[in-house]
Amino acid sequence: MVAPILVFDSGVGGLSVVQALRHRLPGVALAYACDNAMLPYGRREDAWLVQRIRSVCQAAVAASGCRALVVACNTASTLALDALRECLTIPVIGTVPAIKPAASVSRTRHIGLLATSATVSRPYTLRLIQDFAADCRVTRLAADALVGEAERLVVGEVPDRVAIGRALAPLWEASAVEVPPLDTVVLGCTHFPLLRRWLAEAAPREVAWVDSGEAIARRVAQVVTAPDRCQAAGPSYATALDERLGKGLAAFGFAPPRWLQPG
Ligand code: DGL
Repeated sequence: MVAPILVFDSGVGGLSVVQALRHRLPGVALAYACDNAMLPYGRREDAWLVQRIRSVCQAAVAASGCRALVVACNTASTLALDALRECLTIPVIGTVPAIKPAASVSRTRHIGLLATSATVSRPYTLRLIQDFAADCRVTRLAADALVGEAERLVVGEVPDRVAIGRALAPLWEASAVEVPPLDTVVLGCTHFPLLRRWLAEAAPREVAWVDSGEAIARRVAQVVTAPDRCQAAGPSYATALDERLGKGLAAFGFAPPRWLQPG
């Protein structure tokens, strides 16, 4: 059996990255791991989070026998990539907010960044803005409520349109009279692309929604040199077992999760 690429997130957000990987690399062998016992990551303390991400990823890498790890979580990647690369010997591919692609498409030079509380204020994120969008106005908005809505969607519930509208409202309010209208929104949390339809519905006008999925898939394609022809459901791992999560993962081509105990 070919060693899979392991996709890791706090919850179901990494499934948006799975979609991008399958689109670019059909048949690629994938495994999925989530730390749903500690979800959401977006409001947790940094030092605790680094330790936790390290121990969960080490356990998931060992359990899956993967050949590479995709950290499909902006909140984890903007904090813990160096720590993970120090303790793992396989390639580690991170997910960070798509500020650069957004700056390259924005015409009004006003971009929104929608992410977790942690990601919107991380030094890593501020550096990305400085390096790639210095000539843009960037309105950063913490939208942690959307994480829960995406989790609900994957387990078969209907996302709450009112909650989504409320979470996005400050973005539209940021386009005041003297400020150019925002025309591009970075989905800086992997949960958010799963809600794209609902986000578009909640927007008062058309904007470009930019996420990191395609860029990650391109990067992974450099690691996967020979094409896989994997037909079977990939293994999945979770730190809390939940039947509804199993059904959600099955819809994305994964076997029921096995319990993962962080080291
Ligand atoms: N999916 C994660 C991200 O990309 C965060 C969700 C959470 O707060 O746990 O940032």
